[in-house]
Formats: sequence, structure tokens, C-alpha cells
Amino acid sequence: MTDSPVALITGGGSGIGAAVARRLLDAGQRVAVTGRGEERLRDFAKELGEPEDLLTITGNAAEYDDVRTAVDTALTRFGRLDTIVANAGFATHDSVAEGDPAGWTEMVLTNVLGPALLIRAAIDALKETRGRIVLVGSVAGFVPTPGNFYGATKWAVTGLAENTRRQVTEWGVGVTLIAPGRVETPFWDSYGSLPPGDLLTADQIADSVVWALRQPAGVDVNTVVVRPVGQPN
Ligand SMILES: NC(=O)c1ccc[n+]([C@@H]2O[C@H](COP(=O)([O-])OP(=O)(O)OC[C@H]3O[C@@H](n4cnc5c(N)ncnc54)[C@H](OP(=O)(O)O)[C@@H]3O)[C@@H](O)[C@H]2O)c1
Repeated sequence: MTDSPVALITGGGSGIGAAVARRLLDAGQRVAVTGRGEERLRDFAKELGEPEDLLTITGNAAEYDDVRTAVDTALTRFGRLDTIVANAGFATHDSVAEGDPAGWTEMVLTNVLGPALLIRAAIDALKETRGRIVLVGSVAGFVPTPGNFYGATKWAVTGLAENTRRQVTEWGVGVTLIAPGRVETPFWDSYGSLPPGDLLTADQIADSVVWALRQPAGVDVNTVVVRPVGQPN
């Protein structure tokens, strides 16, 4: 299996990114995950039994040098890159009219600039494999919510996905936007509690990502919106 497909997942040490990493490793793929917290990545690798096919790379998804290093490290170690998953992101869980602007710069850079940097750094390698760009957006990038600045960053991701698709499709590269509704992950830690109502699991979202990746050659699944039953908006 030395030439099995390779995925690079930003923010892959927890939540949805970690669930996608697990699914792909189980399917025999080789996986690189990034994150800012070295310990989080170490713990994740330990939890999986430190598999040879898992590479952890400490770095900030909003810094181009870090993103380029992550792509280069994955290519050096595995020799190819088939999938990138721009998953790193977070919410300040406040509102544009009453929130604290101190947290917004990092949120915008991570959620909006980050995916663009990853696409830029990885596109040459993806052209070679006719690979796939997966962007983790949100239902909040489709449905307006009062005061939700985080939601505005995800509207940007929705736009980035389609604008990117229109450029890269002629190079044989696919683009999938996965837009989850509420999912039970550490995303909600900074909110103080889980939101009310039913939530999806990270594994359920990972299944959607893997489904999009497993389409036959030539099939480009572009937008997948997945809510838990019971989430009205
Ligand atoms: N959970 C939900 O209900 C939900 C719904 C819709 C969309 N989403 C989206 O799903 C994606 C994954 O979130 P999650 O729910 O799985 O939450 P999570 O467990 O908090 O995952 C986010 C991951 O991203 C990493 N990260 C954050 N900022 C980063 C940066 N600047 N550079 C590199 N890594 C960074 C975090 O690790 P470090 O802090 O160690 O860097 C963490 O591992 C996010 O884009 C989120 O907006 C989540």
C-alpha cells in the first residue's frame, strides 16, 4: 500500500478533521493532519496507536509559511497528495453588533484566508493526481443568522468553493464544500455548552466527506449540506 492516496487535513487533531483522518486511515489512505497545538496532535496520534501512515504537523492554517511547510512535509514523506481538507476553523460565538472585535481577526484569517492559502500551496500537487479540494463550510454559510460574523466567514467559504471549482475543474481537480449543521465537537467548548437540540457526530460528517471522495473518477460532488434532523435553520 505504499502508493495509497494521501490526504492533508488542517485542524485534524480533533472533531471533524480527526474523524475524517480516522476514516481515511481505516480505508488504507495515508494522512497528514495539522493544528496549532502540538500536544493535541501528539495525543491524537497516541490514541490511534501512532500509525505509520499518520503524519502530524504543527502549524497555523492562517500562516502561508506554515501551510507551505505542511504541504511540502506531506509530499516529502508520502510522495503525493490526492486530497486536501481545509477544515481548521472556529467561532468566537459572539455577534457583530455586541461582540468583542479582539477575536475577529484570527477567526477571519483562519476561516477565510486559511482555506485559500491551502489551495494555493497544494494546487500543483493536486493537478498531478487530479485530486480533490474539500472545504469545510457550514450551514451558517447558507442561512443568514442575526449578527453572526462567524456565519459571514462561512459565507465566504461557500463563495470560495465555487469560485475555486470554476478555475480548477479544467485541471481535473474536484471541489467539495461540506456544510455541516450542528455537530458535537470541541468547537462548542468556547461557547460554554453544547447548543440546544439534536447534534450530528463528527463521524457522521466524516462519512459525508468520505462519500464525496469515493465517487467514481469524473464525478464531482460539489456541495453537501448535512443537518441533524430537528435543526430548522
Ligand atoms: N461543530 C460544529 O457544529 C460545526 C458546524 C459547522 C461547521 N463547523 C466547522 O467544522 C470545522 C472543524 O471544527 P470542529 O467542529 O471539528 O471543531 P474543533 O474540534 O474545535 O476543530 C477545529 C480544529 O482546528 C484547529 N485549528 C483552529 N484554528 C487553527 C489554525 N489557525 N491553524 C491550524 N489549526 C487550527 C484546532 O486545533 P488547534 O486549536 O490546536 O489549532 C482544532 O483541532 C471548522 O471549520 C468549523 O467551523 C463545525
